[in-house]
Amino acid sequence: MQTLIVGVGALGGLIGARLRATGARVWFATRDEASASRLRASGLRVSGVGGAADVAAPDVAALDAYPAGLGFDLVLLATKAHEAMELAPRIARWIEPGGTLVPIQNGAVSQLLADRLGHERVLGGLSNLGATMHAPGAFEQRNAGHLLIGELGGGQSPRAERVRAWLGQGVEVRVTPNLQGAIWSKLLLNCSVTTIGAIAGCTMRAYVGTPEGRVVFDRAYDEALSVAGASGARPERMMVEPIPPGWSGRAVPAPEHEAWLAEVLRGYGDLKPSMLQDFERGRTTEVDFINGYVADLGRTLGIATPVNAAIVETVHRITRGDLRPDRSNLVAIAATAR
Ligand SMILES: NC(=O)c1ccc[n+]([C@@H]2O[C@H](COP(=O)([O-])OP(=O)(O)OC[C@H]3O[C@@H](n4cnc5c(N)ncnc54)[C@H](OP(=O)(O)O)[C@@H]3O)[C@@H](O)[C@H]2O)c1
Repeated sequence: MQTLIVGVGALGGLIGARLRATGARVWFATRDEASASRLRASGLRVSGVGGAADVAAPDVAALDAYPAGLGFDLVLLATKAHEAMELAPRIARWIEPGGTLVPIQNGAVSQLLADRLGHERVLGGLSNLGATMHAPGAFEQRNAGHLLIGELGGGQSPRAERVRAWLGQGVEVRVTPNLQGAIWSKLLLNCSVTTIGAIAGCTMRAYVGTPEGRVVFDRAYDEALSVAGASGARPERMMVEPIPPGWSGRAVPAPEHEAWLAEVLRGYGDLKPSMLQDFERGRTTEVDFINGYVADLGRTLGIATPVNAAIVETVHRITRGDLRPDRSNLVAIAATAR
């Protein structure tokens, strides 16, 4: 498959380097020529889980330098969410008939792009692979995770199998007939564990032990799960059951619910929220495609999402520099809960 990877950051670099190491030809697109020439000079190096790899990367160019009329069978979109939304319509023109765009961002990007560009051109993706970029061209694989791909409309397809077989040469790729459900399972945790932790400036274990932290977690999760259900999605089990025991639109205080929460904490309670790193680096966050998506879709479907809306507003205030990540931010958000 003629393959282009757009965005040579942590995930794009890792996946591209592992694929190149199998001898596959892969084209890469960077934001600008300075990044492209650095990568042509340095090549791509991978360390960590899955072993080391060191490959040359001759086919790297700035996105704007790719000539019109180019054709790819597969474009892996590995930028952050807002860039993916902006770039995808342009990049979609480079996809050969029968070819596929695979977005791998957190949140609702795959769904939004499929709605915008057509399901026949977009195969949904999400990453359970963890990667870090230590320097341009130097990537670490942090876990033995996998890429999950599938049709956003559900079911199996020959193209999902083709993409799995091709990318699977480099990294583990799995196909699910319920990608939408998997996206929601990840979204539920990103909405609660990741975003709330970032706002509070601490791990989930630290914030969920406070009364306001617990209210914000429960209500943000309840709202997101209600929207998922109303949209027709069937969230599927990832590390924990997405639907808490006895849940009927609202978390029910019970020993079973505490046991479920303890399982969430075991899996995710001690991780530094990735959005907190975005705050620390002054980068735009993906909140509009996570809690923002829940709030937008909730409005369309007539489901109240005041806590997710307040979370989005708070993240934007932190990004603007009006607030700092701190547990006290959760008090005002908890006050919006119904
Ligand atoms: N890393 C993980 O472990 C992980 C796990 C699960 C999901 N995800 C998701 O995967 C997505 C990518 O994450 P990441 O960690 O790989 O992000 P990242 O390290 O920030 O990589 C994004 C890359 O896209 C590049 N880019 C931005 N605008 C571009 C443009 N116009 N043209 C070409 N390249 C452009 C960036 O270049 P600049 O540096 O020049 O901006 C950067 O190299 C995110 O949605 C994230 O939530 C990541």
